[in-house]
Amino acid sequence: MTKVITYGTFDLLHYGHQNLLRRAKALGDYLIVGVTSENYDRYRGKLNVQQTLMERVENVRALGLADEIVVEEYEGQKIDDITRRSVDIFAIGSDWVGRFDYLNEYCKVVYLERTKGISSTELRDRRHPLIRLGVVGSGRIANRFIPESKFVSGVTVEGVFNPHLDSAHSFAQRHELAFYSDDYADFLSRVNAVYIASPHETHYDYARQALRAGKHVLCEKPMVFTAAEAEELFALAREKHVILMEAIKTAYCPGFQRLVSCAKSGKIGQIVAVDAAFTKLVPPHMRAIQNRETGGSVTELVTYPLLAAFKLLGYDYEEIRFYSYFGQKGGVDLFSQLHLQYPGAVATAKVGLGVKSEGSLVISGTRGYIYVPAPWWKTEYFELRFENPNEVEKNFYKFSGDGLRYELTEFLSRISKGQMDGCACRLSLGLAEVIEKYRSSDVVKLG
Ligand code: CTP
Repeated sequence: MTKVITYGTFDLLHYGHQNLLRRAKALGDYLIVGVTSENYDRYRGKLNVQQTLMERVENVRALGLADEIVVEEYEGQKIDDITRRSVDIFAIGSDWVGRFDYLNEYCKVVYLERTKGISSTELRDRRHPLIRLGVVGSGRIANRFIPESKFVSGVTVEGVFNPHLDSAHSFAQRHELAFYSDDYADFLSRVNAVYIASPHETHYDYARQALRAGKHVLCEKPMVFTAAEAEELFALAREKHVILMEAIKTAYCPGFQRLVSCAKSGKIGQIVAVDAAFTKLVPPHMRAIQNRETGGSVTELVTYPLLAAFKLLGYDYEEIRFYSYFGQKGGVDLFSQLHLQYPGAVATAKVGLGVKSEGSLVISGTRGYIYVPAPWWKTEYFELRFENPNEVEKNFYKFSGDGLRYELTEFLSRISKGQMDGCACRLSLGLAEVIEKYRSSDVVKLG
């Protein structure tokens, strides 16, 4: 008996898939079809799959061509499947020519001509109209965003807005964008969603204008400086039936999401303390240090440590205290430590622009603790540790590129669902509340 194996995501199963499976089956007597798991797709950077693993498996099964279906869950599984199942032929579409030659060592490799004019990507794009996105601002983070957007389907970055036309022009040239503008109303009229990556103090106004114009908004953190502003923008988004989301990449990356589920599963017992730090030394001439009104460690960096505290302990803290080191009189906080006291738990958030510390996250529980090494906000790895040092559980995840693709994927998914995520809104409100408190309450000055 000749055994043939082939693999794919088989999202929104189409006649290209059917053709491939039919010809793969004809190569032998028994066809094994590997369908990628959701985790594995995310791991390899395929973030836009529409159907669940079960739906995709069912669709492949319903074709009646597969004698056996396996789930592909990890890098290197093809070799394991081929050897364990004594497979004779590995078949795959011609879009992969050369990529699987290494399997020749284990079986015969056959590349089958890909069916022209159809793909899952095209079907996904047809299902949801392409989002034409404009970028507000042309600084460091905006420059990172464009290459990341290429990994996400269903969106095209069309243009850039900057009140300084020269900056907008060079940004548009660098990233080969269709247009650039220094006129915000004109810019908004040419897109249906915006990504706001301008200086913090401009976020609120740009977001409000965009929402009023009926555009979806993905806004860099901190989105706003007060709870009232956050509430107003979310109310406006609801009224206009558009999506407003704060761009907090860590919240949407697979590793961090798993970490939260794991911590809350009871494995380390009851969570009693969350200690997160994020420090980044920046030169004194940078806006984060120069801008006395809206710069400083808390406004710049506190989002990530607070994300950990809020996701793990919630928003009902009873008291919050701020300790800051300013370096010089009238300057911004170069380092701050926040203490959030909850009923039965405590969280600390440590941030610094002029003080360096270990960028780890530790979640302490009554049975054990979770240690996430720096940079924990790009969660790729975490350990569950217990009293017995031999009892360590190690977890590995992939954090691809700069990670902005995760938040953008979530943003597009929200747009296609036509619904904002209540948890994400609560998070933004919680962050704005803390920044507002910091800017208006007593801070314990260090030194
Ligand atoms: N395939 C094919 N002809 C097509 C599309 C896919 O022969 N028009 C083959 C692929 O080469 C692969 C298998 O079908 O061997 C599964 O491909 P998959 O990646 O799931 O489908 P695509 O339509 O290529 O998906 P995407 O657009 O997400 O890349």
